[in-house]
Amino acid sequence: MSRNTFKGRSLTVINDFSYDEKMYLFQKARELKQYLKEENHEKIDEFRINDPDFGIYEVFIEDSTRTKESFKNAAEFHRVKLSNLDTTHSSINKQESFADTFNTLTGYDNSIFIVRSRQEGLCRWLEENGRNYAMRNELKNPPAFINAGDGKHEHPTQELLDDFTFLEHNDWNADSIHIALAGDLFHGRTVHSKADGLKIFKKVKVDLIAPQELAMPDYYLDKMKKNGFEVNTFSSIQEYIDNGNMAKIWYFTRPQLERMGDAVLKKQDILRDKITFKKEFIDKIPEGTIFYHPLPRHKVFPSIPTFLDSTPLNGWERQSINGKIIRIILLGLIAGKIGDDFTGEVKVRQHTEDDVSFIQELPVHNNTPIKDCSEGVKPIDNGLVIDHIFRGRTEFEIREQMARIIKTLKLYGKGGEWVTSSRAEPGMMKGIIFRPNHGELGTKNMKRLASLAPGCTVNIIENKHVEKKYRLSMPQKIYNFSDIECSNTDCISNHEQGENIPSEFYKISENKFICKYCEKVHTFMEIWK
Ligand code: CP
Repeated sequence: MSRNTFKGRSLTVINDFSYDEKMYLFQKARELKQYLKEENHEKIDEFRINDPDFGIYEVFIEDSTRTKESFKNAAEFHRVKLSNLDTTHSSINKQESFADTFNTLTGYDNSIFIVRSRQEGLCRWLEENGRNYAMRNELKNPPAFINAGDGKHEHPTQELLDDFTFLEHNDWNADSIHIALAGDLFHGRTVHSKADGLKIFKKVKVDLIAPQELAMPDYYLDKMKKNGFEVNTFSSIQEYIDNGNMAKIWYFTRPQLERMGDAVLKKQDILRDKITFKKEFIDKIPEGTIFYHPLPRHKVFPSIPTFLDSTPLNGWERQSINGKIIRIILLGLIAGKIGDDFTGEVKVRQHTEDDVSFIQELPVHNNTPIKDCSEGVKPIDNGLVIDHIFRGRTEFEIREQMARIIKTLKLYGKGGEWVTSSRAEPGMMKGIIFRPNHGELGTKNMKRLASLAPGCTVNIIENKHVEKKYRLSMPQKIYNFSDIECSNTDCISNHEQGENIPSEFYKISENKFICKYCEKVHTFMEIWK
């Protein structure tokens, strides 16, 4: 019998499931919806986990109605053991770490955790932590974590139900979608999940409607473009309507007042006005337009006014109803109840592999002894010379980074370091560290050095000759340093969260790195504390 590839999986971001896996989930949701409509109890029962010992825990550290209650109702459908941590009265408020909290609940025979938090990347961390806890305590399986919304990062289960609703709207045709996303695109996690979520459609056209203060962050905008979406931006609904080429699917989001800083909050009335649908717009939008909204709506300032509730524009109620079906299927998949017949691509996370491709051995010409240096420092007879450190940066940056290299690699003892201009490019400054009689750096330290000074060369000198020479390039992963940190204070790995989680970054382009947990983009220099 084939292993159920969904069983025990976490869903931390929408991209944790492949295209095939998402389509399979939607197909199962569609089937269940039909059986429920037909009241076909025999078929409906085939979807149930039906195990009173199977533990599902809801841990909502931020408020919720739809996500929490639809998961609760989905768990009740499955006839499992459902628990809810009262986070207003838990030891989280006594400064207990998330690791200790979730380890405790895992130890009480719970298999799936549904987690909402202000802290971004929490589920990603809990997944790792849970694996270690399960191993230490010889549990049969590590727990799975479902991200029910983490700060302004992602809301993958909302994305699943949104995409299911769009497919339903399109009569299950996944060829193309033209959608307008209007609202707080900066702080709204549901629209961030769309950068990968909408990939279920072959051709995607996205119109982003938000004033500059609430605009889609570059990371998600770039991701949309990289995913082949056609993206157009507008600063207000008025501007969008004036452009004339409108989508028939509009997706609104609420201004996320609780996540805005004071500067943006002060302008909330002006900003809200730009992303609120008004009565006078009704005659100007295309025939057959449907509005969607993840909800909640603000009762005083709804971006979709309530007078539209009983008009054909209302798609958000069907969307909300779909939440329960989608979450029933998701729980069934992760519990291993559904999914045995899945045959498609299984999503494997990238960036997890470590390799040594950042070390390139260069040819050496041993017949010429190395020359005296013009700066007056005698070359060493034997030992280690690290050259081209931070070439092209300022003298201050070079000195700062050399100090970091010495500290990190513990290059204490005899020798020296200096800043000089490159022989080949006289305007370019670079740093050099030399250590007489120092042996080769091991792979671990070479990796550290590659992360600290990409582009540098490492020279092993023997009898005044360069015996070996390596050029180091930036590794795909930067981790294991005490002085790197994600600069997002809402990230679970930021020191302000007090969780003591080491930061880790993945290279996404030449000078761009994302935090493993919250996916905030950093330049190389922004990584270092
Ligand atoms: N859509 C959504 O996440 O709603 P809740 O905040 O009520 O869960």
